[in-house]
Amino acid sequence: MIVDSHLAGHPIRYLQETDSTNDIARKAAAAGADKGTVVIAERQTKGRGRLGRSWISPPGIGLYFSVILSPELPAADLAKITLTTGVALCRAIRGYLDYPMLKWPNDLLLQGKKVAGILTETMPMQNSRPMVILGIGINVNHPKHGLPTELADTIGTIQAAYGKPLPRGELLERILRQNDELLDQAEREGFSNILEEWRSYDACRMRYLSWLTTEGRVIRGLSRGIDDEGLLRIQDEEGKVHEVVSGDITIGTTIGTVPET
Ligand code: BTN
Repeated sequence: MIVDSHLAGHPIRYLQETDSTNDIARKAAAAGADKGTVVIAERQTKGRGRLGRSWISPPGIGLYFSVILSPELPAADLAKITLTTGVALCRAIRGYLDYPMLKWPNDLLLQGKKVAGILTETMPMQNSRPMVILGIGINVNHPKHGLPTELADTIGTIQAAYGKPLPRGELLERILRQNDELLDQAEREGFSNILEEWRSYDACRMRYLSWLTTEGRVIRGLSRGIDDEGLLRIQDEEGKVHEVVSGDITIGTTIGTVPET
């Protein structure tokens, strides 16, 4: 992939190989890199995901990049950036495919399989607003044998859904433009319209879910969607509604009806 020194108004730092673009972006931000700078690598040797997972990043077929942000938003709203970027990914993908979906909080699904993930990390700063490192990994043109076979049921690629390879540079540009537009909107008017759009892509809608909490408990129940703070709500069999702040969600196969609360 050839990426110019600027794309969609963003300065680009293009690397053939690195450990994790989030780590490089964090160092660059600490050293004073411009807000909006994008660090992109053809290959990552230690790509990271949520919950300590790794992000498999083979060369030449995926998009692995991190954007340095310094949004004019209250600290309490920074967690909503992940959801906002999910919407930006859906809008960008819709240029090629009609049915992207989002699994709370950070997964993009196509045909029920995860094709992209978002890792947002906040950097407190001494005398200014926090910086945010927004990392995005996308399985774009991976051939079937390019991903571990044990993940074949859960992990997919855009190419598999689209039927042919996608131009990665074009996809990157679309994502950057959509993300900028949405973050500008959030700074201007808040997140309520963005969260409403997120709900239209919600893969958990009317689904029974299992939530593995960070303490290792499993809570099962029906998704009640995200609230106005972007937290997922699950209603268990006793009718109690849990707000999910962190942890891992598995989508069940059963579709439910929402009981009255
Ligand atoms: C997840 O699904 O858990 C998030 C995955 C995020 C992966 C991207 S790839 C670019 C950036 N650099 C990293 O090390 N991680 C993110």
